[in-house]
This record gives sequence, structure tokens and C-alpha cells, in this order.
Amino acid sequence: MLPLHTMSEAIHSMFTRICPRYDLANDVLSFGLHRLWRKALKRAAKLSPGQIALDLCTGTGDVAIELKQIPGITVIGADFVFPMLRIADEKSGTIPFIQGDTMRLPFRSEAIDLVSVSFGIRNVDSPLAGLKEINRILSANGKVLVMEFGQPQNRAFSALYNFYSKYIMPCLGGILSGDRSAYEYLPESAGRFPCRENFLALMKDAGFSKLNYRPLCFGIAYLYEGIK
Ligand SMILES: C[S@@+](CC[C@H](N)C(=O)[O-])C[C@H]1O[C@@H](n2cnc3c(N)ncnc32)[C@H](O)[C@@H]1O
Repeated sequence: MLPLHTMSEAIHSMFTRICPRYDLANDVLSFGLHRLWRKALKRAAKLSPGQIALDLCTGTGDVAIELKQIPGITVIGADFVFPMLRIADEKSGTIPFIQGDTMRLPFRSEAIDLVSVSFGIRNVDSPLAGLKEINRILSANGKVLVMEFGQPQNRAFSALYNFYSKYIMPCLGGILSGDRSAYEYLPESAGRFPCRENFLALMKDAGFSKLNYRPLCFGIAYLYEGIK
């Protein structure tokens, strides 16, 4: 077991509880949209044969599996919840998955060409410290891609989405996963997580440049990109 801080312990225990039903809940609650978002992340990766990609907070490994479709690259997945990695390993069979905390990654500096983090950075104790750690392990000109929930900008859509995430998601997520509190935490943490320019400012503080982002589904989520 990895040494964990208090907030990490709560997050660790929550993801350990929901992992057996995580994929099912993800599919139902996102209406399958997360599949399209992963493809957007893969397109943004622009990796060349021989390069190394690391998918952090990989969970059940779907982003790592998507990236693995890029010919000739090496993909590694990492997460701090071991049972998530067991599911990822059963699904992929060929990708190495390792247990690791995004705040203290078991990689030497400048070892990785691309780091992706999909719906994970919000859960890390200090997102800024996590981004700095990612910056440390990236090679010169290496790329970070972060996909994370945020707040939609359009007022009418935002009202609709807030209703869905506040009332329907916890109820449905609770039934599907057996853990209602995890699906109360999701919209609550997404609602207060810095998005758009505020998240780019964090990336800049962590040492990234050439920053940009694009909204996914009217800003339910965002795909951020930065270069070391
Ligand atoms: C919402 S899931 C996302 C999983 C996957 N990336 C996806 O897009 O479906 C968040 C994942 O982040 C992992 N996680 C949270 N904090 C972490 C940390 N500090 N270090 C490593 N993994 C962490 C959790 O165990 C969980 O598997």
C-alpha cells in the first residue's frame, strides 16, 4: 500500500469501492460521451513511433487502451488504486499498469514524451503539485493533455446540466455503483474545480507553455494541452 495523505485516503477508498461498477456507471451517466472525448484526446496526442506515453489516474485503463492504438508507441498506465489497475490489466492484456501516486511519480526526470490525465487531476491532493510532478518527468518539448470536468458557460445549458448532475446523477450513480456519495462528490468537485483560463494559469505555474484548451460538450468537460 502506498503512503497516503488524509484527503488522498478518502479519494483512494472511494475509488476502491466503486471500481467494480466504474465502467458501467461511466457509460450510463455520460450517455457514452466519454468514448468520443477519449478519441479527441488521442487525436491531440500527435505521437510518433518510438515515443512513450504515460496515462496517469488511468483507472480502468480506457485512455491508455485508446492511446495504444497509435502505431509504434509505448503506453504505460498508472493509478494509486490497485483494484482499478487489475481491471485495466484484464481489459488490455498488453499495457504495463503500475501503482503510483501522481504527486510522487516513480519515473526519472525527462523520461516520458506525453502524459495524459483524464478526469483525475481534480482528485489529486494538490493539482498544482501534481502538474509540477508531471512537468518533471516529461522530456523537453513533451506534452501534457488534461481532460477534466468544469462548468459550462451557456446559462440555459448550465441550468439543465446542474439539474442533471445535482439530482439525477447521484441517484442513478448510487443505484449503478452502490455508492451514492461518490456520485455526489463528482458534480460537487467538478462544480468548484478551476476551468478554462483558471486551469491554464495552474498549468503555467507548473512550468508549461503553448497552452490551449477546448470545451467538450458545451463545457461539461475541457481538454487542456501544454508543452514543457
Ligand atoms: C474519475 S477516475 C478516472 C479514470 C480514467 N482516467 C477515466 O477517464 O475513466 C479518477 C482516477 O484517478 C485515480 N486517482 C485519484 N487520485 C490519484 C492520485 N493522487 N494518484 C494516482 N491516481 C489517482 C483514482 O484512483 C481513479 O482511478
